[in-house]
Amino acid sequence: MRQAGRYLPEYKKTRAQAGSFLDLCYSPDLAAEVTLQPLRRYDIDAAIIFADILIVPHAMGNGLSFVEGEGPVLETVRSTSDLARLRTGFESAQFSSVAASVSKVRSELNRSISLIGFCGAPWTVASYMIEGRGSEREYARHVAYQREPWLFDLIDRLVVSSIEYLCLQIEAGADTVQIFDSWAGELTDELFGEFCVEPIRKIILGVKARHPDVPIIVFAKGANYRHGAVYSETGCQALGVEAECSLDYLRSILPRGAVVQGNLDPLLLLCSDEIVSRQVAKIVKSAPMESHIFNLGHGIRPQTKPEILTTVVKAVRHADNG
Ligand code: CP3
Repeated sequence: MRQAGRYLPEYKKTRAQAGSFLDLCYSPDLAAEVTLQPLRRYDIDAAIIFADILIVPHAMGNGLSFVEGEGPVLETVRSTSDLARLRTGFESAQFSSVAASVSKVRSELNRSISLIGFCGAPWTVASYMIEGRGSEREYARHVAYQREPWLFDLIDRLVVSSIEYLCLQIEAGADTVQIFDSWAGELTDELFGEFCVEPIRKIILGVKARHPDVPIIVFAKGANYRHGAVYSETGCQALGVEAECSLDYLRSILPRGAVVQGNLDPLLLLCSDEIVSRQVAKIVKSAPMESHIFNLGHGIRPQTKPEILTTVVKAVRHADNG
């Protein structure tokens, strides 16, 4: 997720070579390199393309920069007139660079390793555009409660651009795509259906119209007891889940065949090998392997020691065989 790579010395080296984070995202050779770096170190089954959820608003013409030590800073969208400057992003240099990274990775990756493409969900991306930075969502939730017409317009535009962006990644070689709704958990039940579920459902409908067989993962982070609704109402094939959600609970409410991804608390990776192995075994025990994609419940902390991931992978493989 967004912290990905920063715990690896080889990532830091390539990142320094690229100059800025966005230059790294838009240099297909370097983006492919950092996508592949974890696969050289670990016996893992999938790669996620190196990009960011904020590439969609950037391609739509919304100003974006990443400020060292602060994170993303965006031009704000807070009215109908602000929407006028936005394009669809179709055929943008940003979309083409990511598609080029995907095809480069696919051509270098063993066929047995899955490649995951991704985008942000409209609620999360709209929140960044409304607030202009990542630390706040109060105003975004305020305009959601107000049902401001321009917010629905913004979300509809994000749906259209995200469908195109995901399809481009699939056409370039992504085996599956994941939709990240990092701030879904902050939506009350009153807003959840309208702003998390509905726009994601529309994206999935649009992608499936062009690529019916590509499985889609939705990570509505913090959805907790509402993951069941996300699964049954969006049309996705797999659910990303945060560390706070109980896998036993999820298993009790999801239909057979539903796939779950994630759940290991990234903070645990700062603990000892024993604690990590024990927790991994616990997760594998409560989720049948054929329907669980082992992963963390959120981004890896930059201070994580790379060796602990070897422990995780070994513990997963051991638990799977045992
Ligand atoms: O494994 C990978 O390479 C995954 C690529 C990836 C990134 N961002 C690269 C990135 C993915 C899947 C994302 C998703 C993303 N980006 C999300 C959704 C998932 C989540 O983590 O909740 C969100 C909300 C973003 C937005 C974003 N991008 C923020 C808020 C930040 C700053 C984070 C911080 O703590 O500084 C980013 C930057 C970002 N995106 C980095 C990476 C590797 C760090 C850039 C760096 O400093 O090198």
